[in-house]
Amino acid sequence: MKGIILAGGTGSRLFPLTLVAGKQLQPVYDKPMVYYPLTTLIENGIRQFCLISSPQDLPRFCQLLGDGRKWGISIEYREQPKPGGIAQSFLIAESFIGHDSVALILGDNIFYGGDGFRHAFGEFKSGATIFGYHVNDPERYGVVEFDSAGRAISIEEKPKSPKSNYAVPGLYLYDNAVLAIAKNLQPSARGELEITDVNLQFLQRGQLHVQQLGRGFAWLDAGTSSSLHEASAYVQTIEKRQGIKIGCPEEAAFRSGFLTVQELEALTANMPNCEYRDYLARTLREARRPFSENNFTR
Ligand code: TTP
Repeated sequence: MKGIILAGGTGSRLFPLTLVAGKQLQPVYDKPMVYYPLTTLIENGIRQFCLISSPQDLPRFCQLLGDGRKWGISIEYREQPKPGGIAQSFLIAESFIGHDSVALILGDNIFYGGDGFRHAFGEFKSGATIFGYHVNDPERYGVVEFDSAGRAISIEEKPKSPKSNYAVPGLYLYDNAVLAIAKNLQPSARGELEITDVNLQFLQRGQLHVQQLGRGFAWLDAGTSSSLHEASAYVQTIEKRQGIKIGCPEEAAFRSGFLTVQELEALTANMPNCEYRDYLARTLREARRPFSENNFTR
């Protein structure tokens, strides 16, 4: 399975921050926002990436992430000239997707908590898998309605009267049929190719699986000044209390077996003296410790 990170958009709700750099380049506590969705996909075994962004921001993402080789992954870049909708990403990345299945993640979605996605990625074979997350304000999102057996029966984009409190977060897994579906989409009233329309097509075919994310799982969206601040505070709280980092691609690549101990050592040695480097050095020390739960033999 390949991975697309969609990191364009207008970011108008974060004005004036987004005058100088797009939303997904802004810091969430101690790292750029895009590190978080990138890490989520690396943790789930994705190794080939395509990042899509605006013409202004694409060079900045290239500067930040490079070709991915230092993390044992590959990253290609594609331009979205104007925000034409989330589903446009499949048309833009068609040559990257080829004949594969694909995971699409939105560059401003931050996930944290256990193995919420592991099963969905591990068991994915065909059709589409999306997620349902209980929120207070479902009308801001795509909303999924379930029947009494827990099967999805409807999805509505930003409904005025939501049929449930389950919002669809910005992580979607599709088989290759998504390309044909995206090509036949018509723009919505707001002029965008809607991801909800893609999901509805899979629903109509009886091929949409919606996995509910449990209470212990955190889904943060950092699209407004308040939610950006709250996301930073959340990450800081967890990191301080647990002594672990959320959204650290180097660590995720190491734990996923994309980097060896020696490669992570070399990467860390090239970093300036900072808390991020100290953290990775500690991760390496723990990995070398015999019989520790963090012991890695790679
Ligand atoms: P939104 O948060 O819905 O939109 P936005 O980022 O343009 O922000 P605002 O509403 O403040 O103007 O977008 C969700 C995510 O999808 C976000 O990471 C941006 C990305 N996106 C694109 O990259 N291209 C698009 O065409 C759209 C619609 C969204």
